[in-house]
Amino acid sequence: MGKLQPARGTRDIFGEDARRMEAVTAAFEATARTYGFQLLATPIFEFTEVFARPLGESSDIVTKEMYSFSDRGGEAITLRPEFTAGVARAFISAGMQQSLPVRLMSHGPVFRYERPQKGRYRQFHQINAEFIGSETPETDVEMITMAWRVLESLDIVDKVTLHLNTLGDRESRTVYRDRLVTYFGAHKAALSQDSQRRLDTNPMRILDSKDEGDRVVVEKAPPLDESLTQASLDFYARVEDGLRACDVPFTRDTRLVRGLDYYTHTAFEFITDALGAQGTVIGGGRYDGLIEQLGGPSVPGMGWAGGLERLALLLDAAPSVQRPVVIMPMGDAAVRAALSLAEDLRAAGHTVIADRSGNLKKRLTRAAKAGANHAVILGEDELAADRVTLRNLDAGDQESLPRKALTDRLAAWS
Ligand code: HAM
Repeated sequence: MGKLQPARGTRDIFGEDARRMEAVTAAFEATARTYGFQLLATPIFEFTEVFARPLGESSDIVTKEMYSFSDRGGEAITLRPEFTAGVARAFISAGMQQSLPVRLMSHGPVFRYERPQKGRYRQFHQINAEFIGSETPETDVEMITMAWRVLESLDIVDKVTLHLNTLGDRESRTVYRDRLVTYFGAHKAALSQDSQRRLDTNPMRILDSKDEGDRVVVEKAPPLDESLTQASLDFYARVEDGLRACDVPFTRDTRLVRGLDYYTHTAFEFITDALGAQGTVIGGGRYDGLIEQLGGPSVPGMGWAGGLERLALLLDAAPSVQRPVVIMPMGDAAVRAALSLAEDLRAAGHTVIADRSGNLKKRLTRAAKAGANHAVILGEDELAADRVTLRNLDAGDQESLPRKALTDRLAAWS
């Protein structure tokens, strides 16, 4: 029977969970549209090289978490572990640099081989927005504010804190990298195996380590700020200033480095303490070198992704569904007439389900279970008189009325 369970880290999403996720996606799309975003659906799998270099050859995602395989044609394929690299690849493939900037929104499943726990899955879903072709800090402000507005429209903004940092430009990072190598090199023996390896590949990643021994060393590491160029500091100051202009509160978090290699300048996360260990609900930043690294033109980008499951968990209540009207044809002759009557009611905006089997009592019990507020009973007598019986399931009373009057009567009640 074990095989009839979903694979570890995956799940079937239905009922209330599905409604919550649908509500988050709808809020995201509606908000992003007001910022000029258009939908882009990229493939769920790409050639492995699309992800491997941009995300970082030494990053956790690339070294431990990608679902990679060679397909029947021998191609190295990876299920997308995030959207950004695929969106950048699509941007290049479609020659989108002809009309810059572009604002692209996406949502769908992503795959990471992680240890499953509450709010962490192997197949999860992201909402994702990328603003490609603008290098101004005001674009970063707009993107972060857009994320804030999505949270606001879902009424969960009070549950999160915006953590903001800058990683500086390439020059700042080169200087900082050297300082970190010197510092961590002097404390190498105290570092975990993973971090000793990161010392050669990507020392900034050590700042992000969860290992307790590493954390002690990281506490005293030199801060990035001291290595930032004036241009990076000026850029960052404009991001902070713009957020203040939009009334978006934030806290500076100099330890925020993000888990992917492509970031430059602005990096941010929306973090909640309502979900235990998996508290980051949205993360993103600027990635000015990514498109060039993938073999495209030198075009800057800025974006973010939100974890749909985590955002859905933060909602106070699942959105309610419209209560259905159940149409109940009694007897063969009424079945056909009930088909078109149901269509009329749907066209008037009602949710209509039909129940064609069993006696009336059984059908009324089923209708109550389905959460219906009304039953429309269509028997042979009613059919002959072109009337229907409308039963109010909450009140338990009913009335007979001409078929033509039904939509108006229902509209008056709902
Ligand atoms: P990320 O921080 O790796 O960024 O993921 C974004 C969000 O996806 C996280 O904040 C979290 O809510 C959710 N998430 C990540 N892993 C899991 C998991 N295993 N289970 C459930 N939810 C998860 C990116 O993916 C970047 N591509 C964001 C970006 C877009 N940067 C620029 N543009």
